[in-house]
Amino acid sequence: MYVIWRNSVSCLRIRKVPHRFQSGNHPVVPLGSRILTDPAKVFEHNMWDHMQWSEEEAAAARKKVEENSAVRVLLEEQGVCLHSSYRAAQCCAFVHDVCDEGLPYPFPDGILDVILLVFVLSSIHPDRMQGVVNRLSNLLKPGGMLLFRDYGRYDKTQLRFKRGHCLSENFYVRGDGTRAYFFTKGEVHNMFCKAGLDEKQNLVDRRLQVNRKKQVKMHRVWVQGKFQKPLYLTQKTSKLVFSLLSHG
Ligand SMILES: C[S@@+](CC[C@H](N)C(=O)[O-])C[C@H]1O[C@@H](n2cnc3c(N)ncnc32)[C@H](O)[C@@H]1O
Repeated sequence: MYVIWRNSVSCLRIRKVPHRFQSGNHPVVPLGSRILTDPAKVFEHNMWDHMQWSEEEAAAARKKVEENSAVRVLLEEQGVCLHSSYRAAQCCAFVHDVCDEGLPYPFPDGILDVILLVFVLSSIHPDRMQGVVNRLSNLLKPGGMLLFRDYGRYDKTQLRFKRGHCLSENFYVRGDGTRAYFFTKGEVHNMFCKAGLDEKQNLVDRRLQVNRKKQVKMHRVWVQGKFQKPLYLTQKTSKLVFSLLSHG
């Protein structure tokens, strides 16, 4: 048993698979791979992946939510800036419609180190995506990084849409009115590179989700990328700077 554990740990190290750590910093299993198969062992670990809920658990959860939503926080007290953990000296939270071209950001261009764009772009109309990415790119400082993750083409979410929900190619409307676009790696590459960013990573993350109780297999597809604002002047901007300097 110990040998098996040692072997799997060394495999994890070699393949650099993300894994959980116990308090002694010992890697245990790759993230997402701990499945509860024997209910008697439920207290042996603090986390199990891909749990199925029983009817009783679902009913108990519904009852709990009914109870805890009976009294609502006043609307005027719901702003994130009013949270007791919010520190205005350390962060600046604000609401901004990234599609609104006329709305200025509360800071100048070229000062952000990192922009996190996680499952945001897919909710925006494809015709507006390039404009949004261009504006975000302007906000990055040289060397700044835009981190992207979103739905990939033929993810199970796309396959599950019923007829009548498709707005345009690979762009759908959900029942609640929100939108979802499903990207290819090539589209992601073109969009961010057109915005003047260099591709540092662009991959398709494909996983198989299995509902073993129902014996259902579901293919998940996400696109993930890291795009960097060039550190140095591009040929175009250096020509501009050179011509400005030589005329000044
Ligand atoms: C599917 S949610 C993802 C939320 C979160 N990033 C996550 O992964 O759980 C889509 C997010 O995109 C944001 N979003 C959609 N359109 C936007 C717009 N025009 N301007 C700013 N944010 C927008 C929504 O506010 C929402 O938080």
